Amino acid sequence: MKERPIGIFDSGVGGLTVAHAIKQILPGESIIYFGDTAHLPYGDKSAESIKLYSRKITEFLLEHNVKVVLVACNSASASAFDILKKEFSQTILIDVINPVVDYLATKHYERIGVIGTKRTISSGTYENKIKNRTGETTVVSLATPLLVPMIEEGFIFDDISNAIIRTYLSDPSLKGIQALILGCTHYPIIKNQISKIFNFNIDIVDSARIVAEALRENLEKNDLLNMGDKLKDQFFISDYTPYFEKIARMFFEGEINLKKADIWS
Ligand code: DGL
Repeated sequence: MKERPIGIFDSGVGGLTVAHAIKQILPGESIIYFGDTAHLPYGDKSAESIKLYSRKITEFLLEHNVKVVLVACNSASASAFDILKKEFSQTILIDVINPVVDYLATKHYERIGVIGTKRTISSGTYENKIKNRTGETTVVSLATPLLVPMIEEGFIFDDISNAIIRTYLSDPSLKGIQALILGCTHYPIIKNQISKIFNFNIDIVDSARIVAEALRENLEKNDLLNMGDKLKDQFFISDYTPYFEKIARMFFEGEINLKKADIWS
């Protein structure tokens, strides 16, 4: 059981930020990653569609014998996590929103911003969960839908991405925030560009490390930390996109064992 891999999924490259943090914090673990590039971006899809995709991918990962399923996507965490927990009640499932809310409960921010996809922001999940835990915090939410296609198309660290990021983050609602939650797992890829807009003056809450820590605690609690041999990491995508492999190589040096998995036909 302990040697089985950790299943991770996202719509595309975003979950790789979480996978990367897991490999740093838990170097003994192996992963199976699924990027649902055929349905990217999730942020523009209905909650019903995201539930359908998430259910099918969870089944795929379980067929590959994973010991945990990590929903490394905020849009899926906001729309599908509750239903996954009901339908896969025997499986250990971890999302990317609850660990961040737990982390924020230990801080005492007065005003905090959250950026994410249209699906995540319109769900109000961050706002509601943070308000329930820390009544004193004002949460301002902003949908930043161009950022995911921008990153998936490889527009990072350049003038185009700087202009888009600046335009979004100049929104007056974000004035006076002490921290900004990156409410999309794609965003840590452009964390420095985001931080720069705020003159590196506010805390940027990057879920990747927080979620990897939550996973470590969960594996420890369930006595599932791998102490034995490690399997080879595997990366699956549902459709070929030119940048997936390129960005995957930014995070994982060496050969990426990337396969197309046709789970939708
Ligand atoms: N990385 C995902 C998220 O955290 C998905 C973004 C998308 O596909 O729109 O929301």
